[in-house]
Amino acid sequence: MTTAQAKKVFIETYGCQMNVYDTELIKSILISNQFGLTNSETEADIVMLNTCSVRDNANRKIQNRVHEIKHAKKDTLIGVLGCMATNFKTDLLENKSFPIDFIAGPDSYKTLPSLINSLLTTGNQQYDVTLSEFETYSDIQPTRQDGVNAWIAIMRGCNNFCTFCVVPYTRGRERSRNPQNIVEEVKQLVKDGYKQVTLLGQNVNSYRYEQYDFTDLMKMVSDVEGIERIRYTSPHPKDYPIKLLEVMKERHNICNQIHMPLQAGNDRVLHKMNRTYGKQEFLDLVSQIKTIIPNIAISTDIIVGFPTETETEFLDTYDVMENVQFDSAFIFKYSERPNTRAAQKFPDDVSEDDKKSRVIRLNDLQNTMSLKKNQALIGTTQAVLIEALATKKSSNEVQGRTDCNRIVILPKQNQELGQTLPCLITDATRNVLKGSV
Ligand code: SAH
Ligand code: SF4
Ligand code: F3S
Repeated sequence: MTTAQAKKVFIETYGCQMNVYDTELIKSILISNQFGLTNSETEADIVMLNTCSVRDNANRKIQNRVHEIKHAKKDTLIGVLGCMATNFKTDLLENKSFPIDFIAGPDSYKTLPSLINSLLTTGNQQYDVTLSEFETYSDIQPTRQDGVNAWIAIMRGCNNFCTFCVVPYTRGRERSRNPQNIVEEVKQLVKDGYKQVTLLGQNVNSYRYEQYDFTDLMKMVSDVEGIERIRYTSPHPKDYPIKLLEVMKERHNICNQIHMPLQAGNDRVLHKMNRTYGKQEFLDLVSQIKTIIPNIAISTDIIVGFPTETETEFLDTYDVMENVQFDSAFIFKYSERPNTRAAQKFPDDVSEDDKKSRVIRLNDLQNTMSLKKNQALIGTTQAVLIEALATKKSSNEVQGRTDCNRIVILPKQNQELGQTLPCLITDATRNVLKGSV
């Protein structure tokens, strides 16, 4: 066996922005331990899958992926990282022939170099899935590639235990990063030419470090000279700080956009989900938000078909969506997750057909509302931050976003990445705006 130092690593990332951020941390850890990185799976000696387990048959998908990689090149070493690490550790211990070479959980990335070294010297499978109450990786500068947008995890883990959700089990307890340390990272990002940061946490409202809360942190980040746009995701409706709205209103570099997961609109279902707010409380919160910041964009996440949800209860969700007029929404079918309280206590009893029909109805409603909202912007001028010098469809177009997080497509002229330009909105679909400079 050779040493790790000659090895090239390819990382494939699944799941949410937190995982994308973690991949950037992992890259830094690997680089400072003399590993090489590659964007090509076939060139790689080691493939790491940074996994997600929030929905669907994620296990099977990753198992298939593992077999596919081994099939393509027998001597590729495969590591499973991220939120499925604990699951796979059990699989590995029960089935030694399963072709995973090492496993590292979300709090174990600093041990990756030594795990791989042990693997290379002993030839034995290695794992570390210990969850930490302290690890925040605040001493590691992520290896970022974007150049315009940067994500910063301000906290890790979750203590909310929504009954459907696996995250508190995969990522462990809440812990927050030192705000000074976050501010230093933002200052460095500005020096490196970044224009926008998004602060990440499972529930950013729970951010707390000594006497500092989330609103304090937002003020400190907003005070950093040169940072043009600040976003955050996600807050939880149960404890959204109203004082933050005043800060958002007075600070031009905090974007007028909030992603506020509703999950369901019915009180009984919300209670069973352990969300600790009700329909009316959510509606009151939204109306407070809109009163303080009238032109704010609000997006959300919804789960349909939570155990025992009836058609009438589902219509409460429909009602809230119609009432709030979200700018966009991610709508999911309930997916039973092993070990969660819902999986232990409530049989997954809403039929697949009912779940499908509920998703379709909410998507139809949202599509109509999104189109209407986007069309209302035709004829207005929006400040657009240029994020890409080509679109998926064309190299003659560039793409950017408005303050409210809407995608705008512009004809390519001589725009530069990271520029903010006033654009006239000329056309709209439900997903994008078209404009001219
Ligand atoms: N911490 C974030 C959510 C992270 S998971 C928050 O609370 O806002 C992202 C979304 O996945 C959730 O908002 C929820 O809508 C969805 N989700 C989580 N668990 C799910 C499950 N078991 N089935 C279906 N959707 C789920
Ligand atoms: Fe999951 Fe709820 Fe925590 Fe979000 S707040 S990560 S939905 S347990
Ligand atoms: Fe994110 Fe999926 Fe883990 S949504 S927190 S990568 S379970």
